[in-house]
Amino acid sequence: VIDMDILIAGFGVVGRGVAEVLASKGPMLGSKLGEDFRIVGVFDSRSVAFSSDGLDPLELLERKSSTGMVGLDRHGGETTALVRNSEHDVLIEVTPTDIALGEPGLSHIRCSLEAGRDVVTCNKGPLALRFKELSDLAERKGGRLRFEGAVGGAMPVINVARDILMGEEITKIRGILNGTCNFILSRMGEEGLPLNQALKEAQQLGFAEADPTYDIDGIDSACKVAILANAIMGMDVSLNDVQVTGIRGISEDAISLAAGQRKVIRLIGEISEERLEVSPRLVPIGHPLSIGGTLNLVQMKTDIAGEITVAGRGAGKMETTSAVLSDLVALVKEL
Ligand SMILES: NC(=O)c1ccc[n+]([C@@H]2O[C@H](COP(=O)([O-])OP(=O)(O)OC[C@H]3O[C@@H](n4cnc5c(N)ncnc54)[C@H](OP(=O)(O)O)[C@@H]3O)[C@@H](O)[C@H]2O)c1
Repeated sequence: VIDMDILIAGFGVVGRGVAEVLASKGPMLGSKLGEDFRIVGVFDSRSVAFSSDGLDPLELLERKSSTGMVGLDRHGGETTALVRNSEHDVLIEVTPTDIALGEPGLSHIRCSLEAGRDVVTCNKGPLALRFKELSDLAERKGGRLRFEGAVGGAMPVINVARDILMGEEITKIRGILNGTCNFILSRMGEEGLPLNQALKEAQQLGFAEADPTYDIDGIDSACKVAILANAIMGMDVSLNDVQVTGIRGISEDAISLAAGQRKVIRLIGEISEERLEVSPRLVPIGHPLSIGGTLNLVQMKTDIAGEITVAGRGAGKMETTSAVLSDLVALVKEL
């Protein structure tokens, strides 16, 4: 058995989920794959822990929950230097998404790839802004970049398209890429609620952020459109190339007008030769894209298989952790 040494950047919802899963499933995976996943380093916004002999994930979780810091040492903010100076095989980059500059994730990812290491991330910012640069860097230096969790959490879309459908040409992708908007539109349709009230409900249930701007204005979906366009359809685009209209302007009247035609309104991301777009669309009831609730769903049109539809939970601690885990397993299996 050899070890895959892991450095985790960010110890929030997803970082902690990864530690929990490695604590509970690590030994089983190790014996199945012939490779042990070992956490050698972790840092959060203030502190760092590192040991080349491996860290105990349960101890890290306990320290984070009792002191608010994952490590005993404070790092003073120079986190890219931490990535540079820590020996690791794979970086799991799970710091917050920033869509203006992509930082600090962009620098962390660049730094690991520059050294020829592998990266697993679900941080949308760096991917939506600098996909081509990062994938070229990975290829040039012999590292691998995987990011299943960045689009649709547990919904397996990127790995399905890139690995399983490798022989197919994917000509069009349409999808529901934001569970919060889908929940809001569903509730508006089912109960005749105004947008503000449906949003409040989503916040009370813990689906929506306190500041829901990115979701409601379609920016989160647009990040995912950019990532899918680059990763699956071989485009070279960034977030700024996506035409975005969110759901703020959707009235109760529009919803009931749609219902009169046996249609619903859904926030749809579309990627094709003609369009790179996020916008509210009318969808006939019964069509896969009319799905309600918080699920994410993507339809890919391919030259051989025709339409393939995947759906799954788009966010949440364990859902997103499952995507990170699938990337880690893929890295080992590819070797
Ligand atoms: N949660 C989900 O369901 C989900 C789904 C898909 C994708 N994602 C993406 O996954 C990433 C992580 O999400 P999350 O929900 O785990 O976020 P989170 O709970 O906010 O955790 C972020 C972590 O990053 C740390 N951090 C913040 N700024 C940092 C810096 N400058 N240097 C080092 N560490 C820093 C935070 O430190 P402190 O602990 O010290 O504050 C925290 O540990 C995000 O990019 C998000 O968009 C999340």
